[in-house]
Amino acid sequence: MTFQSLPKIELHLHLEGGAPPAFIAGLAREKRIDLSGIFDAQGNYTYRDFDHFLKVYEAACTTLQTPEDFRRLTLAVLEESAANGVVYSETFLSPDFCGGGDLAAWRDYLAAIQDAAEEAERTMGITLRGIVTCIRHFGPEQAKTAAMCAAETRGDFITGFGMAGAEKVGRPKDYAYSFDMAREAGLRITCHAGEWGGPDMVADTIRDLAPERIGHGVNAIHDLALVDRIAEAGIVLEVCPGSNVFLGATGGWRDHPIAELHRRGVKVTVSTDDPPFFGTTMSTEYEMLHRAFDWDEGMFRDLNTVALDAAFCDAATRDRIAKLLEA
Ligand code: ADE
Ligand code: ZN
Repeated sequence: MTFQSLPKIELHLHLEGGAPPAFIAGLAREKRIDLSGIFDAQGNYTYRDFDHFLKVYEAACTTLQTPEDFRRLTLAVLEESAANGVVYSETFLSPDFCGGGDLAAWRDYLAAIQDAAEEAERTMGITLRGIVTCIRHFGPEQAKTAAMCAAETRGDFITGFGMAGAEKVGRPKDYAYSFDMAREAGLRITCHAGEWGGPDMVADTIRDLAPERIGHGVNAIHDLALVDRIAEAGIVLEVCPGSNVFLGATGGWRDHPIAELHRRGVKVTVSTDDPPFFGTTMSTEYEMLHRAFDWDEGMFRDLNTVALDAAFCDAATRDRIAKLLEA
C-alpha cells in the first residue's frame, strides 16, 4: 500500500533538519566550507548518536548564511513535503540559525522564508506556518532572545513558539520566562519533551511551560497516570516515530508507543522531525505505521483531522485546509 497521495498535515518539522544532504553539500561547495565529515560515501548525513546528530545538524547549518540560502532551503523542503502529499506544514525556525538572534537580521531571514512559502503555496499547493524555536542547549539567556524575535514577528506566518535541542540540559522552568513572553505576545506553545527525558520531564514541561502540544512526548508511556492526564487535558503529541526508531529514542516500529498512547485516548499526530537525517518521508511514516499496527487510510484521515484541529493557524486557513483533507 502506498499513502503518497493521501493529503497530510505535518506539525513537527525542523526547517534546517529537512535540508536534503545534496543541498547542504552544494552550499558547502559554493562557500568552500569543508563538511566532508558529516556525509557518508553515499552522500547521506552520518552520525553516531543523538548528541553527535546535534553536532552534525549544527555543522550543516553553518552553510546557511544568508536569507537567500533560507529561501532556497524552504523551497527545497516544501517540494519534498508536497511530493509526499503534505498540504499543510508547520516548521520550526530558530533565530539562532537565522542571524544569530539579531532582530533586524531575523526579520530579513523571515521575509525570505515567507517569500518562499508564498511561492510554494502558489506553485505546489502547500501551506506553511512558522514556529519560532529556542535551542535548549544554547541556554535560557539565548532562549529569551529567540522569544523576543518571536514576539516581535508574531503574525499570520509566525504563530507559535517552542523549544528543541538537548533535552538533558536544564529543566523546563529555566525557560519559563521565554515561554511566558511568547504566550503574552499571543503565540501558541509547543515544546520538545519526553523524547530523551522521562515522564518527569513531560510532567515538568506541562506544569512549568503549559504547552498545548508536546514535541514527541513518547516517554510519557512509562507513567500511565501521566498518560491519562495528557489525554484528559487534550494535549496533542507531535509524534515522530521514524525519528525515534532511527535515533534509538524508542524501540523498533512494532514497539513504538504511538499505538498504546492512541489506545489510551491521547491525541497523537504523525510527523517526520528531520526527514533526510532519518531516511524518512511522511509517506514512509504512514507506510511503516500501516505495517506495524495495521493502521489504514481511515485511521490516517482521523489523525490528520486531529492534527488540523491542533494546527497553529487561523480559522480561515483551517477551513480551507479541511476541504483539501476531504480529497
Ligand atoms: N532538533 C532537531 N531535531 C531534534 C530532535 N529530534 N530533538 C531535539 N531537537 C532537535
Ligand atoms: Zn523535533
